[in-house]
Amino acid sequence: MVTSVKEIMLKAQEGGYAVGAFNTLNLEMTQAILEAAKETRSPVIVQITEKSMEYAGGRALYNIVKNIAEFYAPEVPVGIHLDHGKSIEAVQRCVNIGFNSVMYDGSRKSLEDNTMLTKQVVEYCKDKNITVQGELGSVPYIGETDMTDIIWDKYMTVPSEAKIFVEQTGIDTLAVAIGNAHGFFKERSVPDYARLEEIRKVVSVPLVLHGASDWENDRVQEVIKRGICCFNVDTATRVAFMNNLMKTACNNGTSVTFDIRKVLGDAREAAKLAIIQKMQSFGSAGRI
Ligand code: G3H
Ligand code: 13P
Ligand code: ZN
Repeated sequence: MVTSVKEIMLKAQEGGYAVGAFNTLNLEMTQAILEAAKETRSPVIVQITEKSMEYAGGRALYNIVKNIAEFYAPEVPVGIHLDHGKSIEAVQRCVNIGFNSVMYDGSRKSLEDNTMLTKQVVEYCKDKNITVQGELGSVPYIGETDMTDIIWDKYMTVPSEAKIFVEQTGIDTLAVAIGNAHGFFKERSVPDYARLEEIRKVVSVPLVLHGASDWENDRVQEVIKRGICCFNVDTATRVAFMNNLMKTACNNGTSVTFDIRKVLGDAREAAKLAIIQKMQSFGSAGRI
């Protein structure tokens, strides 16, 4: 059942666990996410980026998620979320399609512009029952910076700014930067747990951690304890899907398989297993 993302996260916050927000781009990845949620009895957020909408069509992807959620997994609370929306137009497009949650990512802008634009998004979404996520500080991507000697201080969320940002924008959830990074690559050697505690003290809205693909269980537990109630995961599921796809398509190097259903079906299963592991680690399994 499609359910408010704010409600899903507030429930996780109260229950001391976190939900996963998993990226989809096609039918098989969506099935993997929702089958994993159904099997583990886990609330879940299915999220779509602008690039994936360009690839598959925003309306088409939205309807795949919604149909599977309603007809295959009606007992599972499912949020449908725009991940890293980079413009107000992208947000408006998703809202018109029916998404019940959006992220406006102004993290690469000045604090003033990020605040002003995020606030505009909140105002646009306010009476439509749509959850809005903002980001302060910024979570780096592979290729965006030379990760060999990254100056983490440039990326981190400043707690005092986070307090004002949340108050001034009215966002429902906040993505934080505490040494986490997108993709499989060098993160800060230890996440800045003290910073997260400071943020939690001054910000009451649910906190989201992007770049959770390579987070081991002990780190996951440390940040859940300190207030993270949603983890964004993309790379881990893509890698599970693609590794399996390459293996099956080439029959482990012996021949080529042309049965697309076999190749994509096996890849879907591999992605599902990776997602189940995440749901167990985040503690969302068994929460419905
Ligand atoms: O942070 C989100 C995604 O991992 C970026 O994926 O290539 O669909 O924009 P994208
Ligand atoms: P990873 O690709 O590192 O899992 O990050 C996903 C993410 O943050 C999506 O918003
Ligand atoms: Zn992200």
